[in-house]
Amino acid sequence: MSVPVLKVDRLVRRFGARTAVDGISFQIHRGEAVGLLGPNGAGKTTTLSLLVGLLTPDSGTVAIHGKALQGDTDPVKRHIGLATQELALYEELTAWDNLGFFGALYGMRGDPLAQACQRVLDFAGLADRANEPVNGFSGGMKRRLNLAVALLHDPDLLLLDEPTVGVDPQSRNALLESIETLRRQGKTIVYTTHYMEEVERLCERVIVVDHGRILTDARVADLKVQAGGGIQLRVGLAASHISEARQSLADVTGVSAIEPVAEGLHLWLNQVSVAGNVLELLEQRGIPVLSLATRQPSLEDVFLQLTGRTLRD
Ligand SMILES: Nc1ncnc2c1ncn2[C@@H]1O[C@H](COP(=O)(O)OP(=O)(O)OP(=O)(O)O)[C@@H](O)[C@H]1O
Ligand SMILES: [Mg+2]
Repeated sequence: MSVPVLKVDRLVRRFGARTAVDGISFQIHRGEAVGLLGPNGAGKTTTLSLLVGLLTPDSGTVAIHGKALQGDTDPVKRHIGLATQELALYEELTAWDNLGFFGALYGMRGDPLAQACQRVLDFAGLADRANEPVNGFSGGMKRRLNLAVALLHDPDLLLLDEPTVGVDPQSRNALLESIETLRRQGKTIVYTTHYMEEVERLCERVIVVDHGRILTDARVADLKVQAGGGIQLRVGLAASHISEARQSLADVTGVSAIEPVAEGLHLWLNQVSVAGNVLELLEQRGIPVLSLATRQPSLEDVFLQLTGRTLRD
């Protein structure tokens, strides 16, 4: 197998008596997009900081393209772009000058730097605000510029720590599309978010951490199977029939849960064939079915089933 883009081995990081990262190991290969998920304080940001040498581990190792990372100034860091959760921008400087400053830190100058600045400003949808100071930007615009900075030196490994927090739905969609484009170009992405629909859209694998440890490292598709592989059947019913239908269906084998909604019932089925039994029974009872749809479980549903709570704040 090829050398992983990122190899993390038994990373530990303490802050005083608290162990923020408690023996985390994983590997990520080229072109993978991996969601790093977990509740507040789980250790996600600390892990990302260890991956780029912003923090030094108490023990354990990080290797980028097979090369051990030696602190914050290691040239192997050129492969990595980190969009930090805490904005790292100079408020007094314009967007353009911020990019120029950070580009210079990566040894970029002249035309290549100007072209890179233009490219990432377009990416972030900020080209028309390039010459305005950042302190006049909205929160979402700052967030987008913060992401642009991380992309300036065209890294092949992107670590994105909640890059869409505070970004409006339209700009968020544009950002997600741009990130999808980066993925298609072969970039490797580690993506932290509390928005499951983003993970669903961008990531084929998730690493779930809590209390500094990995709870799950799995393909999204496998997680869905692991969580029971159930599918949801949405049965449209007249309001007057909902309660009777609910009682009638309660004992059908293969129906694991029933949720009444305004339009009828949402049933969780162990497998799709159970839908036949459901329809047959409703027909026997003389309850007309107004509409019918099935839905695969969302990642949100899966987390609920696996952990008993959502990962969103
Ligand atoms: N510089 C620090 N000094 C002391 N404790 C810290 C420091 N940074 C993080 N911690 C602690 O380490 C733990 C993990 O924090 P971390 O920021 O990595 O969580 P997170 O998973 O990114 O959470 P969130 O979803 O809220 O961003 C927390 O208990 C936090 O209080
Ligand atoms: Mg964090």
